[in-house]
Amino acid sequence: MFVVAHISDLHFNGTEYNRRRNEITVDYLNRCADGIDVLLITGDIADTGSPDQYREFLATIRTPLPTIATIGNHDHLPTYLDIVGRPENSVFDVAARAGDSGDLRIVAVDSSLPDSSSGLITDDTLDFIDTRIREVSSSTRILLAFHHPPVILHMPVMDVIRQTGEKRLADLVRSHPNIVGLVCGHAHTAAVTSFAGKPLCLAPGVSSTLKLPFEGAGVIDPTQPPSVAFHLLDDDRLATHFRVATGE
Ligand SMILES: [Fe+2]
Ligand SMILES: [Fe+2]
Repeated sequence: MFVVAHISDLHFNGTEYNRRRNEITVDYLNRCADGIDVLLITGDIADTGSPDQYREFLATIRTPLPTIATIGNHDHLPTYLDIVGRPENSVFDVAARAGDSGDLRIVAVDSSLPDSSSGLITDDTLDFIDTRIREVSSSTRILLAFHHPPVILHMPVMDVIRQTGEKRLADLVRSHPNIVGLVCGHAHTAAVTSFAGKPLCLAPGVSSTLKLPFEGAGVIDPTQPPSVAFHLLDDDRLATHFRVATGE
């Protein structure tokens, strides 16, 4: 079995409030580290994409876990590349262990667009995904990660800035049966739905949770604590568990 810890929407902004929520989250994950294969971060690492916010990220999210990350609409790609130094599109491979029927490859890509809150997986990025899937065995399971959900979530504030052009992504997903699921963030809500016949799981927002339309006035629910998703993958099924990140 593989275990992917997944966090999203860290929104480092120089405030003690956001930094503390991120500290609690990474401390919680580090206490579980022996059971986790990889930490996945799906964007909005910084709140406005300034160099100081990426330095704050690097100083705060300190973990022994191997980490794969991509960016979101609040990030600034050139600054992220300069300060964090990780590519915007990347893969992470977890080798099969005894009892596993194949390896796991996480393909994490940038769905953000310059100067836009909405998302799009460009043709070049679709080609990257396709190439990185085709270069491994069909027995390798693929988890596809990006920032913007490609579906309506019935959250009016977020639905208008979701990922568009999703039919091309759906066609790609249908052409690769070894894709076991898709994961993203952006909507600051722990949610599970489906896309192109596969599970689509949203990590909750570390920095905040956004309300559903019937949860009262305002957009952000300040009572919701930081939380994480754990994606557990056995031979043929993805099981996602959500946890509040608690202090010791
Ligand atoms: Fe966000
Ligand atoms: Fe976002």
